[in-house]
Amino acid sequence: MSTAQDRIDALPLRPELRGKSPYGAPQLDVPVRLNTNENPYPLPEPLVARIAERVREAARDLNRYPDRDAVELRTALAAYLSRDGYEVGAGQVWAANGSNEVIQQLLQVFGGPGRLAIGFEPSYSMHGLIARGTSTEWVSGPRRADFTIDTEAAVAALATHRPDVVFITSPNNPTGTAVDRETVLALYDAARAVKPTVVVVDEAYVEFSHAASLLPLLEDRPLLVISRTMSKAFGAAGLRLGYLAADPAVVDAVQLVRLPYHLSAVTQATALAALEHTDTLLGYVEQLKAERDRLVSELTALGFEVTPSDANFVQFGVFDGPGGAHAAWRYILDRGVLVRDNGVPGRLRVSTGTPAENDAFLEAVRGLKKEHSA
Ligand SMILES: Cc1ncc(COP(=O)(O)O)c(C=O)c1O
Repeated sequence: MSTAQDRIDALPLRPELRGKSPYGAPQLDVPVRLNTNENPYPLPEPLVARIAERVREAARDLNRYPDRDAVELRTALAAYLSRDGYEVGAGQVWAANGSNEVIQQLLQVFGGPGRLAIGFEPSYSMHGLIARGTSTEWVSGPRRADFTIDTEAAVAALATHRPDVVFITSPNNPTGTAVDRETVLALYDAARAVKPTVVVVDEAYVEFSHAASLLPLLEDRPLLVISRTMSKAFGAAGLRLGYLAADPAVVDAVQLVRLPYHLSAVTQATALAALEHTDTLLGYVEQLKAERDRLVSELTALGFEVTPSDANFVQFGVFDGPGGAHAAWRYILDRGVLVRDNGVPGRLRVSTGTPAENDAFLEAVRGLKKEHSA
């Protein structure tokens, strides 16, 4: 019987796609799903009602294409970004269907055939996959054994590979580690010393960080891009709304590749409604940060090696027994809790859930520990 892979490979694919698998975290129907770094809290009812109202208004005009430049939404996103004191204008903001699309647009503009992008791995696997999808050569840069970026080794990698695009994920997924501003500045300067290079700081999880956003670094750095999303802190993964902040010239350049009317009127209306409820949603973020810190301390107390986390998830291990991390993943799954095996040797990643979900997870790993020490 032919497999999906055989059927795909029978097609006249671009050679770099041959034999490759698509991105896909398992979507299993289990009681506790802590594997895709979603926000566990459903949107509050007053926000659901406001979305319905805004979408109803938008529906009256669905015979027309949406605002191609999403001006109202970009203005609201700029106001949100400016909350912490660094002023960002609507002309510095661009929005798309998830930050994945933002990253794709950036690679379509600044990457492509004959160009190269680098990220420091383990990191968000889609950076490499989107690079491949845009025919951009991908290089996996180094990290230390404790998963932080070794600035000296990273600078050396930039000198060797001369990238056109550099990805720095802070806080990093799947490890949870934040990158300090000195490291970002050192990499920005080192990359620029070789050639004009776009440095993308992926801040998908920044609202959960102990450290502040790196947005103020945009000042006088025309090739720095900060990418953000409403999928995590705003609890709106299903909305598909990502955005970037950068020099207005970068925003203008992205127009060269964006599809006309890429952001539907329904998406724009829903995102605007969610932004009206920013304070409530950021209240959930505070609860999740406290629960994340509880996961870190309880896992540590159980004797796991835990990577310090600035995100809404925690990487833990080390599983070096028979079957490694995958066997531990299976043990936890058999107790009704789905976590993520990202392929980092000996480690698993758990997203922060509600207190009850976290308790269920901790109960499962307590059993795992007991069985191993028995
Ligand atoms: C580091 C990082 N960047 C970007 C994304 C993509 O987010 P979005 O839902 O906005 O496409 C994710 C999703 O998990 C992520 O972990």
